[in-house]
Amino acid sequence: MPPNFFPAYSVFLMIMLIPVPRVVCEDNQQFVSCGAQYECGNMVISYPFWGGSRPPYCGHPGFELTCDGEAPEFTMKEASYRILDINNSFHTLTVARADYWDSYCPPTYVNTTLNESIFSYNATYTDVTLYYDCPQLTIAPSNQFNCTNITGYYTTLDLNLSVSPGSCGVYVTVPIFQSAATAIVSGGGTLTLLTEALKGGFGLEWNASNSLCTECVESGGQCGYTSNQFTCYCRNGYPLSSCQTTRSGSNVLRKIIIGIVADRLVNAWITSLSEEALKSNFGLATCYAVLKAFSNTYNLDSEAYYT
Ligand SMILES: *[C@@H]1O[C@H](CO)[C@@H](O)[C@H](O)[C@H]1NC(C)=O
Ligand SMILES: *[C@@H]1O[C@H](CO)[C@@H](O)[C@H](O)[C@H]1NC(C)=O
Ligand SMILES: *[C@@H]1O[C@H](CO)[C@@H](O)[C@H](O)[C@H]1NC(C)=O
Ligand SMILES: *[C@@H]1O[C@H](CO)[C@@H](O)[C@H](O)[C@H]1NC(C)=O
Ligand SMILES: *[C@@H]1O[C@H](CO)[C@@H](O)[C@H](O)[C@H]1NC(C)=O
Ligand SMILES: *[C@@H]1O[C@H](CO)[C@@H](O)[C@H](O)[C@H]1NC(C)=O
Ligand SMILES: *[C@@H]1O[C@H](CO)[C@@H](O)[C@H](O)[C@H]1NC(C)=O
Ligand SMILES: *[C@@H]1O[C@H](CO)[C@@H](O)[C@H](O)[C@H]1NC(C)=O
Repeated sequence: MPPNFFPAYSVFLMIMLIPVPRVVCEDNQQFVSCGAQYECGNMVISYPFWGGSRPPYCGHPGFELTCDGEAPEFTMKEASYRILDINNSFHTLTVARADYWDSYCPPTYVNTTLNESIFSYNATYTDVTLYYDCPQLTIAPSNQFNCTNITGYYTTLDLNLSVSPGSCGVYVTVPIFQSAATAIVSGGGTLTLLTEALKGGFGLEWNASNSLCTECVESGGQCGYTSNQFTCYCRNGYPLSSCQTTRSGSNVLRKIIIGIVADRLVNAWITSLSEEALKSNFGLATCYAVLKAFSNTYNLDSEAYYT
């Protein structure tokens, strides 16, 4: 190395070295934690959902779940939803309004409003409308109910309301499956049928970078989000859109360049650490081991790119 080149090279290294090890170590950790199974009720939770033992970076920001031990729940536009089923292959889920799960007399009245940037109804839903604070009829129809000291009615499809909608204080719409609505009408609009329909829930489809995640999983990665951007976490620690090369030539070239630069930086950093510095800091030593393994793996990978 020419002597007059060395100082500039060192300064460049000192600037570049600080962020490199931190990013590499965290990404490997992200691959591991996003791949760990998280169960709630009898459901296995994976991307786009996060919460519980899944850190925020393992899911889409709009898909935070809580688990009460029985079933996972999420909140959207002021209402909470209980997840009854998740179908990862079709990106669909069946949910029920949590506040209507064991009663049609909720403590507060909230409509069902989807966040349309991430959810859509699948084709088969119908609204049931629940009216509260209505006049009481002397002969109670089958779709009349009592909540403490107010009277309510519900309708769906062509089930008659029996009172004028304007005579009620408030109303709320809750989606149910089309089949449940048909069952209500043919069964005479009873309260048992209403309860069953609400517990059956309705179908949603999610949109959370679905195709990017499919590509990521097929390449051996784990899906997640960092800084509001879809991220594919790879075993070797590189966050990219997917974990293998092959698709496009420019992508391969990019990875080779990243690989060479990262290798140089990592090796220079490792050599610059004294034994004492390593012993005095367990975290640093762990990071060193991870980097060494990663560096070896990556050398193999970059050789594969050339063949
Ligand atoms: C809808 O979802 C998007 C994506 O997560 C989020 O940015 C937005 O704030 C949500 N809107 C509401 C009203 O919650
Ligand atoms: C997902 O839904 C499709 C279509 O409804 C069904 O064929 C498939 O078995 C479901 N997969 C799971 C895991 O439930
Ligand atoms: C529900 O939505 C309907 C129309 O979209 C509205 O008239 C009604 O007041 C809403 N109910 C509540 C409780 O916000
Ligand atoms: C609601 O309360 C009224 C008056 O107390 C009663 O006549 C009616 O049968 C009740 N309806 C139901 C569905 O329990
Ligand atoms: C029931 O009615 C009484 C008096 O009419 C009122 O003070 C009370 O707040 C009502 N309770 C509920 C839950 O609406
Ligand atoms: C609803 O009421 C109308 C008249 O008010 C009646 O013609 C119709 O048959 C009723 N529908 C049902 C499902 O009871
Ligand atoms: C709607 O979603 C539910 C639950 O995943 C599923 O069983 C049903 O087949 C879906 N329907 C359509 C039309 O996608
Ligand atoms: C899914 O969301 C993306 C951006 O968030 C949007 O561009 C795309 O149109 C959405 N797709 C569907 C089917 O809603």
